[in-house]
Amino acid sequence: MKNAIVSISILGANQDNIDHEIDHIKGAHIKWVHFDVMDGCFVKNKSFDKPFLKSVCEKIDVIKDVHIMINDPLIHVSDYVDCGTDYLTFHYEACKDDSEVREVIKKIHSLKIKAGLSIKPNTPVDVVFPFLDELDLVLIMSVEPGYGGQKFINASLDKITSLRNKIDEKGLATIISVDGGINDKTAPLCLDAGVNVLVIGQYLFGHEDFLERYKRII
Ligand code: DX5
Ligand code: ZN
Repeated sequence: MKNAIVSISILGANQDNIDHEIDHIKGAHIKWVHFDVMDGCFVKNKSFDKPFLKSVCEKIDVIKDVHIMINDPLIHVSDYVDCGTDYLTFHYEACKDDSEVREVIKKIHSLKIKAGLSIKPNTPVDVVFPFLDELDLVLIMSVEPGYGGQKFINASLDKITSLRNKIDEKGLATIISVDGGINDKTAPLCLDAGVNVLVIGQYLFGHEDFLERYKRII
């Protein structure tokens, strides 16, 4: 048992058969669900709309881990209050400067939601260090955001280790989450590097041996 928290990425689910997918989540007693929101501008892809997000949230009692890959997060954060978001994670690269990053974190906290900051693979990890005291979670993208089913970028491991060292050095409880290409091979590498949460999509969804696959991770 590696004490891993899996946040299952609903982007990988068969949305035409969402009740069957929700049964998988319930059957595995998965406690976190990761919702990828894409605006078609910050990332080329568009994912599901808020009614779908709300419909899933009404069917399952989980930690709602919402990852917004959108421009102008400051304008949109309040859109995610009424679907019971627990963690709202926005992108460093979607902000014009550090003061806007700070403003978004403050806004999220004012809505009584936990704040997460995500960085893309090519963004150096030390850009998040100035915000660690204010952040509840840092999301390390181990693929280029926009699509599920991509290959894990190994350089993410050094970013995780460096972030883990900084969080421990500062004595903080900030959660480290990793997102993209996580499977039974890459999950242990990420756990050893110091992550708390593994975001997983297509390694689990779309496979009838869902539960066996899940057990290989935790
Ligand atoms: C990609 C999303 C990820 C993705 C993970 O932009 O942020 O959450 O859905 O899916 P897998 O695990 O299939 O890489
Ligand atoms: Zn995501």
